[in-house]
Amino acid sequence: MNSLSTNSANSPVAHCSSIFHLIDDPRLTKDPYVFIDNGMLVVENGIIIAAGERNEIEPTLAVDCKIVEHPNTIITPGFFDLHIHFPQLTTVAFYGEQLLGWLNGIIPEEEIYKNPEIAAERAKIFLKETLRAGTTTMCAYGSWAKESVDALFSEAERLNLRLIAGKVMADRNMPDGISITNPKDDYEHSSELIEKWHGRARLAYAVTPRFAISCTPEDLKVAGNLMKENPGIYMQTHLSENPKEISFTLELFPGRKSYLDVYDHYGLVNERSIFGHCIHLDDDDFKRVSETGAVLCPNPPSNMFLGSGLFKFEKAKEYGIRMGMGTDFGAGNTFSMLQSMENAYKTAQLQGYSLSPFEAFYHATLGGARALSIDNKVGNFEIGKEADFVVLDACCTPFISWRMEHAKTPLEKLFVLMMLGDDRAVKHTYVYGNPVHSRDS
Ligand code: GUN
Ligand code: ZN
Repeated sequence: MNSLSTNSANSPVAHCSSIFHLIDDPRLTKDPYVFIDNGMLVVENGIIIAAGERNEIEPTLAVDCKIVEHPNTIITPGFFDLHIHFPQLTTVAFYGEQLLGWLNGIIPEEEIYKNPEIAAERAKIFLKETLRAGTTTMCAYGSWAKESVDALFSEAERLNLRLIAGKVMADRNMPDGISITNPKDDYEHSSELIEKWHGRARLAYAVTPRFAISCTPEDLKVAGNLMKENPGIYMQTHLSENPKEISFTLELFPGRKSYLDVYDHYGLVNERSIFGHCIHLDDDDFKRVSETGAVLCPNPPSNMFLGSGLFKFEKAKEYGIRMGMGTDFGAGNTFSMLQSMENAYKTAQLQGYSLSPFEAFYHATLGGARALSIDNKVGNFEIGKEADFVVLDACCTPFISWRMEHAKTPLEKLFVLMMLGDDRAVKHTYVYGNPVHSRDS
């Protein structure tokens, strides 16, 4: 194969492969996708300048355009993981608990991310693994320590990655023996990080109250104020993940009619809000989410691992909810959005709803971009967008290769990848036109 050209020195690079991307929401429009068997994606200075049939594009290429062949592959937009925890690298696969017991077991490990050297070393490991999984845009939780988020943003900037991240706010109900923050420090440290990182390179800040249980009313008020003072930042938190979590939340916030209403009361439910899990929402909650334009982010691998329950994909469709999808690593036992799609399919099946691969890939690509209001920059292969993409290997194992030979339609091919694939299927990951992960080198 030709060498994987870095797309930096002005000359365009044409990638030859099958190409797949979404152009609209499959929940609203029938089959709004493009699948080209013999396709070409042309990138110049990090930007897509052409995407389509190879035989139409090739004659138009500039003389200095490099051609890179990717045989037996499908190029898709890079994946969006809208809910992932950086400081859970050493606690993934923690045995035997459901949510609250699991948190008591794993949170103490997040202390170490206060150490800048350790945080820097782990940020490298974390982002390497997400790129290996084909994830090019993330909404990540740091630890309570601002140093953890500093380290993650620094490494993302070095890689020119799109990253949204925030330091966790938590001023009560944390496990014994670990540091908790206070509303004043949460305000000051979050503000410092916003000032330093928000809008720099491809980075953005998310105010991150860990969840309502970990925040006093004062701390949630601070989160609301930070959002008001910094238009353009995001807010990410956990919502309605587990029945015991929900009843404890309602005890802590008497007078609020639902878990969602707790966040709403503090001005935290709007189109910049990303809520993880959202398993046990009722119709009133769905209605409120829909009218505010807030984003729901199911995390199927985590929901299976912790036994938290099944996200209601059909309800979300009925209410026209803006959605992304995540792994929730390290409650999720994978970095792979392909595996998140697999678990999403099974989650929907258990409720009598068939989640098509087009809907699953939508949530993991264009839907994620729309959820973050950055679909003018990333999410599919429209000309002028930033070239974040993955080269998926249709022959990544002998059996998958053989199974793929029997897959005739785009739906079948994508479904095989999402049901059988994982990071082995990600042959290359490109960020802003540059190769940042190559499986075989
Ligand atoms: N709720 C509050 N913190 C967490 C966390 O780290 N993981 C999950 N899955 N739920 C949470
Ligand atoms: Zn989480």
